[in-house]
Amino acid sequence: MSNQIYYCKPVFRPPSEARSLLIQLTEGCTYQCDFCMSNLRKEFRIRSVDAVKKDLDNARKIYGMNVNRIFFLDGNAMVTPTNKLLEVTNYAFELFPNLERCGVYAHSKDILKKSDEQLAKLSKAGLKIAYVGFESGYDALLNAVNKHATKQDHIEASKKLMNANITLSATLINGLGGANNPEISEKHAIESADLVNTICPDDERLWYVAFLTLMVPPGTEVFKKKVTGRFQEMNSTQILQELKIFISNIGFKNKNANCIFRSNHASNYLPLKGILERDKKKILNVIDYGLSHQESLRPEFYRAL
Ligand SMILES: C[S@@+](CC[C@H](N)C(=O)[O-])C[C@H]1O[C@@H](n2cnc3c(N)ncnc32)[C@H](O)[C@@H]1O
Ligand code: SF4
Repeated sequence: MSNQIYYCKPVFRPPSEARSLLIQLTEGCTYQCDFCMSNLRKEFRIRSVDAVKKDLDNARKIYGMNVNRIFFLDGNAMVTPTNKLLEVTNYAFELFPNLERCGVYAHSKDILKKSDEQLAKLSKAGLKIAYVGFESGYDALLNAVNKHATKQDHIEASKKLMNANITLSATLINGLGGANNPEISEKHAIESADLVNTICPDDERLWYVAFLTLMVPPGTEVFKKKVTGRFQEMNSTQILQELKIFISNIGFKNKNANCIFRSNHASNYLPLKGILERDKKKILNVIDYGLSHQESLRPEFYRAL
């Protein structure tokens, strides 16, 4: 019997889970968004509860009590049937007395497939954070990149998570519409800001919104479109202008909202962070600085996913 923890590489996890114990609950993803490589080299499967429990046992032997956070891989582990997700989450909390939370990536449609009761049970068991790829709030663009979700799906899924007391960490993609049509970029920015404004809760809980910048990985649909001239990437100036429109359009009714905004991923040209909408002006000033000081931006060859 192997004492190692099983991984089907490459694995997909959020940057903020870099120090978490990674457990392969699923492999690949059930969707195929045009920009994403999560399912390129993997056939989707949900691993058996026994196999996952064995990995947790092995992790206990390797790390002892020193596990505070677990991230259940892979691209969309929320698709796992609730009873299985509950069983592995409960087992993890039995094994690791210092465990604070478990997390998963979650497509909005798969959140919507779970009932409020199921989400509440998962939250109570310790599934405390879900990373949701909004990508955009502009329906035409969501459709064009095959996201299989609409702005309204994102709104309803976010509310369901918040009602269940599961922390929302949402990502959007700067430059998703490409450089061919500036109108798409503007709508992407405005509709994405409207989506974020709409889901803002009326209390002071923490929630997260991050902007990544589009990368074009070989093998993806967007890569095929790029090499055949049907997609043109935005340059850094266009990217920052799009982000500026997004930030300018943020306006929360709840002035005490605790929305942690980040755009400091390896794919971004300019590292930005702050609390929305409190730090709106500060963020806009940094964007303006980046626009007028191109030499301060991350060089193209350092950008990565
Ligand atoms: C591995 S995916 C998991 C998200 C989850 N399956 C969902 O759809 O909600 C994590 C996120 O990485 C970002 N991402 C994936 N491919 C990208 C690319 N080529 N360029 C920039 N961001 C990308 C997207 O925001 C995506 O939602
Ligand atoms: S973005 Fe999410 S849903 Fe889309 S292919 Fe990637 S992992 Fe799957």
